Amino acid sequence: MTDRQAAIQGDDVLSDSDRRGLYKVLLSRRDVRGQFLPDPVPDEVLARVLVAAHYAPSVGFMQPWSFILVRSPEVRARIKSAFEAANDEAATMFEGDRREIYRSLKLEGILEAPINICVTCDRDRSGPVVLGRTHIPTMDLYSTVCAVENLWLAARAEGLGLGWVSIISEPALKEILGLPETVVPVAYLCIGKVSHFFARPELETKGWRKRLDLAGLVTLDRWEGERSADLSHELMKAQIAAESGGLA
Ligand SMILES: Cc1cc2nc3c(=O)[nH]c(=O)nc-3n(C[C@H](O)[C@H](O)[C@H](O)COP(=O)(O)O)c2cc1C
Repeated sequence: MTDRQAAIQGDDVLSDSDRRGLYKVLLSRRDVRGQFLPDPVPDEVLARVLVAAHYAPSVGFMQPWSFILVRSPEVRARIKSAFEAANDEAATMFEGDRREIYRSLKLEGILEAPINICVTCDRDRSGPVVLGRTHIPTMDLYSTVCAVENLWLAARAEGLGLGWVSIISEPALKEILGLPETVVPVAYLCIGKVSHFFARPELETKGWRKRLDLAGLVTLDRWEGERSADLSHELMKAQIAAESGGLA
């Protein structure tokens, strides 16, 4: 057996239970707003979750992210006010029943969650010319979102809920957190232990929007390309299984 074959049969291949565990985390991850418990999160757990974020892929290995832990009650109060101002504005953008539903939704847990983290992207982290960012300049922002998703999944694996709060004016957030011009606040996150995780997205159960059928979103070769009947069948099966929390 070559070294490579040995490696493939060793650490490179997940055990069936590890593989299922990963899908379980992916499929049971939720955006959490209202179920935070006040229990503190041990630093060692927070450290593992932040390491998961830091090991995300990034364009040109730029690692443009930083993590601001927002602990000060005064700073949190300012963030909450910025949310309320933006949320009032947002509500006016929906009409009739939609506005009523919007108003009834809880869309943040800024004061209740024991941890708030702002994940930022320093667009100058590795100089003006970045390998892989030369023709699509937003790649560093996308890289930071990869870090956010890693953080979100690691939090779920640790039994921690996480809610992303995006209803805040970006200039207000930058000012409150003292971010330099070149640093973008990509995600404001509320994290902590939770009383429970919902099985489905709250926006689905509250009637805001349904999950789309994946088979309708997969085409061959181009935007309006054909669909593979065989693959569509498998996608439907896999999505039905996912809806009941499992694998096809
Ligand atoms: C970029 C981004 C911004 C979001 N902003 C908010 C937000 O401001 N408030 C909120 O309650 N949820 C927010 N969410 C959570 C979404 O509403 C949620 O992911 C979606 O409804 C699906 O639910 P799930 O994450 O529980 O699967 C955001 C999610 C993403 C990815």
